[in-house]
Amino acid sequence: MGSHFTKYILKNYPDWQVVVLDKMTYAGNMDNLKEAEGNPNFSFIKGDIANAADVEKAIGGGVDAIVNYAAETHVDRSILEPDAFIKTDIFGTYNLLEATRAGKAKKMVQISTDEVFGMVHNMGDEFTEETRFDPSSPYSASKAGGDHLCSAYFKTYGTPVVATHSCNFYGSNQYPEKLIPLFVTNLLEGKKIPVYGEGNQFREWIYTSDYCRAIDLILQKGEPGEVYNIGTRDRRANIETTKIILGLLGKDESSIEYVKDRPGHDFGYAVNPDKLMNELGWKPEVSFEDGLRQTVEWYKKNEEWWKKIKSGDYLEYYKKQYGVF
Ligand code: TYD
Repeated sequence: MGSHFTKYILKNYPDWQVVVLDKMTYAGNMDNLKEAEGNPNFSFIKGDIANAADVEKAIGGGVDAIVNYAAETHVDRSILEPDAFIKTDIFGTYNLLEATRAGKAKKMVQISTDEVFGMVHNMGDEFTEETRFDPSSPYSASKAGGDHLCSAYFKTYGTPVVATHSCNFYGSNQYPEKLIPLFVTNLLEGKKIPVYGEGNQFREWIYTSDYCRAIDLILQKGEPGEVYNIGTRDRRANIETTKIILGLLGKDESSIEYVKDRPGHDFGYAVNPDKLMNELGWKPEVSFEDGLRQTVEWYKKNEEWWKKIKSGDYLEYYKKQYGVF
């Protein structure tokens, strides 16, 4: 998402400068920023938000805004190894808040997730901005920790930070461990796709371009201290998403392998996006079916991108997570 937003800003605001600070963990990938390379308004610094000196280096004399896309995000990895999540998602956020509090940034936008709210059982039971945090995984707990710091920094120091809670995003260039890119690339390789439990859990989906437009609006018009939910109200049971993907790739349900459920698996997420829609005038433009079609096309055309990833360390993780089937 960070690379999508970088390209979006460079394209839409030719007089803005973007500095990307990225630790280049397993999910980081310079191939995602190829389009930006050579653009005089783009610079890249390899570093860690959990290291204050790296943050200082990226900010230099000061910036207009910090958008905190840097995070460990994968729930299953957080179950296997929570450590990095605490460091990046909590301590890293603290460093960015400190820089903002010191006046090095005029505004900070915290990118976060609806998972901090816990889960719902019915698609109609929406999380609002006021819903109490009730995280289930080490991932969502670490994001909730970072978000609590944002609200505490605003209340205590008046630090100009705006927080966001988004539903699940999907699109091109997504690391093939998340549901959609994992299933698409497994099917392209002729492999099985691991559906957790019976696939009845549901998620709400937002396409990358819609998400970039939402963050752009929040960056420019969101008031410090405010919180915005980002959602489309397009909610699908995992098995429904799975069947759409199978259909787009001309496969049938024999490719599905029902596997052991994720521990602490949140049943469903449903976001109330009325504030973003009514106050900032945002609405989604890409339907789930269209977005999925474009996503599948991208993975079909960019085998080289994901084949490079699906080897080495990736295979180790895959074996740990799913065993081999
Ligand atoms: P994921 O993409 O990991 O996002 P999150 O858990 O943060 O919402 O998972 C989306 C849903 O898909 C979630 O209910 C878990 C399920 N899932 C599977 O059934 N199989 C898989 O291999 C993965 C990665 C996820």
